[in-house]
Amino acid sequence: MNCFQIIKSVLDEAYVQIPGDEAEKDEVIKAALDNLREEYLQLLQECNINYSDPTTRFAYIYVYVTSHSNLVCNIIEQTPVLGDLFDKQKVKVACIGGGPGSDFLGILKYLMTKKKSPTIQFHLYDREKSWGESWSDVEDKVEDLDFRISTSYMPLDVTKRDDWESHIKYFQSDLFTMIYFMSEVFSLRDSAEEYFAHLFDQAKTGSFFLFIDNNNSHFYNWFDQLAQNHKIDILRSNETKMKVPIEEEKSDLGKYFDKFSHPKLTANVAYRIGRKS
Ligand SMILES: C[S@@+](CC[C@H](N)C(=O)[O-])C[C@H]1O[C@@H](n2cnc3c(N)ncnc32)[C@H](O)[C@@H]1O
Repeated sequence: MNCFQIIKSVLDEAYVQIPGDEAEKDEVIKAALDNLREEYLQLLQECNINYSDPTTRFAYIYVYVTSHSNLVCNIIEQTPVLGDLFDKQKVKVACIGGGPGSDFLGILKYLMTKKKSPTIQFHLYDREKSWGESWSDVEDKVEDLDFRISTSYMPLDVTKRDDWESHIKYFQSDLFTMIYFMSEVFSLRDSAEEYFAHLFDQAKTGSFFLFIDNNNSHFYNWFDQLAQNHKIDILRSNETKMKVPIEEEKSDLGKYFDKFSHPKLTANVAYRIGRKS
């Protein structure tokens, strides 16, 4: 399986939602791509990204989901103790800040590449509810899927206790993914800290945590500190550069590649694989 092919069909749907004729759409998309790049440079101070805007969602999927989904797949491939989790018959995954779909698309690619076929449930927790639309019918977009997946979308803002405190079932998940999420809420950590402490505390014994983010010590130190305080053993830890693998063909992005150039092809990442003891 190749992520770019699936992403292309999600992009086609997202493109239709952007108002205007083709030239107008392309102009606002280029502006959104520039805007996202600038916003991500200042995450230590603030985050003003409005993902409810369809143009921003398109730009995000084009540049970042293409990269992040492959990071997830590659890191699981390189970490047998995590890959073995998917030999179970049933696996539950909670993707925190996972609305754009990178986390579960990366896992899907891993499963199809390794020919593993658990019955798998994904719960995507994210503040922005319009992401739900992009991935609600992903099963129809993936050819030759010979196992059962279900995806459900749960609106949840980690900075609002009223929003998160009633959710308890997902503590039984086998894997929690936090992909480029803690950096996004870093500037709001005074409000978000309680959520993470609660999640790390309540996660079931033996569950795995997959953290991937920008290679910046502010972000990974925050994760490491939480892990240390809440009995999450770090099994693997790395800061490195990773590239989108060669099997992903830029031509699969079709007309968007000609219009908008490269998605993010190299990522300077920090990642952690943890297990609740
Ligand atoms: C940079 S994206 C990462 C998405 C995905 N995990 C990936 O790697 O592509 C950050 C996500 O966090 C969500 N988000 C931002 N603030 C949030 C909050 N306070 N609570 C929950 N989700 C939030 C955004 O809607 C967005 O989907």
